[in-house]
Amino acid sequence: MKFEFANCDGKLKGTILAPVLQGASVPPRLLEEDKQGLIAKAMKAQNFTGKSGETCSVFINDLWLVLMGADPFEEPSAPWLQALGGHLAGLLSSLRQKEVMVCTSGLAQKMDMPAGKIAAHLAFGMGLGSYSFDVYKTEEKETQTVEKVVILSSDAEACEKAFEPLFAVLNGVYEARDLTTEPANMLSPGEFVEAVKALKLKGVTVKVLNKKQMEKLGMNLLLSVAKGAQEEPYLLVLEYLKGKKKQAPVLLVGKGVCFDSGGMNLKPSQHLSHMKYDMAGGAAVVGTLSAVSQMGLKENIVGVIPLVENMLSGHAMHTDDVVQSMSGKTVEVGNTDAEGRLILADALWYGQETYHPSIAIDIATLTGGMKFVLGSEYAALFSNHKALAEDLLKAADQTVMDKLWELPLHPSFAKMLKSDIADMNNISSANEAGSSTAAMFIQQFVQENVQWAHLDIAGVCWLNPGKPCAPKGATGFGVQLLTQYFVDKGRS
Ligand code: BES
Ligand code: ZN
Ligand code: ZN
Repeated sequence: MKFEFANCDGKLKGTILAPVLQGASVPPRLLEEDKQGLIAKAMKAQNFTGKSGETCSVFINDLWLVLMGADPFEEPSAPWLQALGGHLAGLLSSLRQKEVMVCTSGLAQKMDMPAGKIAAHLAFGMGLGSYSFDVYKTEEKETQTVEKVVILSSDAEACEKAFEPLFAVLNGVYEARDLTTEPANMLSPGEFVEAVKALKLKGVTVKVLNKKQMEKLGMNLLLSVAKGAQEEPYLLVLEYLKGKKKQAPVLLVGKGVCFDSGGMNLKPSQHLSHMKYDMAGGAAVVGTLSAVSQMGLKENIVGVIPLVENMLSGHAMHTDDVVQSMSGKTVEVGNTDAEGRLILADALWYGQETYHPSIAIDIATLTGGMKFVLGSEYAALFSNHKALAEDLLKAADQTVMDKLWELPLHPSFAKMLKSDIADMNNISSANEAGSSTAAMFIQQFVQENVQWAHLDIAGVCWLNPGKPCAPKGATGFGVQLLTQYFVDKGRS
């Protein structure tokens, strides 16, 4: 779907979507077209009061107006407008039109925000909400879908300018959703690498470590997970170094398990479904670097994505294997299904040894328990540094979808990871606090003086049913959040 911005004093044509705030006053631009008071009549006849979820159709000559009620707002904010855009996107398919216009004059009249920003945030939300993945559909869609949306406002030029950075984020979210949706037979670790190379991200240097190189470095945790699979593992490194030369980079580490069968601790059938999305963290790192590079932010960022399949074969890692990590610490593998923390540990160590970051953030579909703890509303944030946690929470608050809730890292969680014969076990001896002990495991591989945060996105990276700004399926969680984090960081 394409977005265009136009001034609303031009001629209106075709189908026009117009959000209306509660109290249902008619958007001023539409009133100009309505000499006979048809809109007010239609509102009355259709009992339209402007409540969220209500719509009202009006025909004025060859114009088709579709009014849509909006949630009340206390403060006009970007996330509020983006959510409204998501709701508008939900209406698009029912219109069966090729092109629609969106009239923002009703919002501009009531909101204390420049017209350009209002229209841009609305367009961003519509973009988020109208994503679909049609790569493998061979049949034409039966109904007409919207191909072009023209957003009308009093200042089209300002809209275009305000939309530019948002469009970069939208692209990043789409790329993350695409990667996450690709099934494992189409996106192996090697194909993930090729797909990222094909994106040709501006200013991003792509480096790839193969199995041999990882063997030399002693990345045995990562390699042990990959042992049971036919597909070769890779470590994908994305360097974006546009900040000050002397400034230590921020390290982003994204879990890239292209399929998680559980390995020898094989998952039961119902849990095997959709385990193609166990690389959503890696996809979020790719999407973030895509957005940040398209925006040309002046930051030093390095993305490291360990790519493996967790499979079962005669070569697979056994339960209770003891493996030495790249850091030198030894790990007893109490459960082969707790593979994410293993590959992250080596990737995090590699990133720290190679790039000496001041901040490291990992993002991963780490624990199934997340769905029970925070549902599909929040990802969990764990951190060893208060200010970093606050910065991430602040960034999250500015997004429409990527919300965070902080959970604690109690020292007792580390004790639960004790092993009788190695430095630690990869699962907890106690049947509690599973997401926290997983986070605690990763913390064992954080070097001194590195500010670290861990984001567990297992509950939010895939939605069924969907939400206004994220249709059913991959959400691209993390791209908006991390990009906003870097935007804020550049300002401070
Ligand atoms: N990839 C899974 C976590 C997951 C489950 C993500 C469901 C999304 C939806 C992870 O590798 C895993 O299997 N974790 C185990 C750990 C356990 C064996 C200690 C879990 O959470 O059950
Ligand atoms: Zn697993
Ligand atoms: Zn996993």
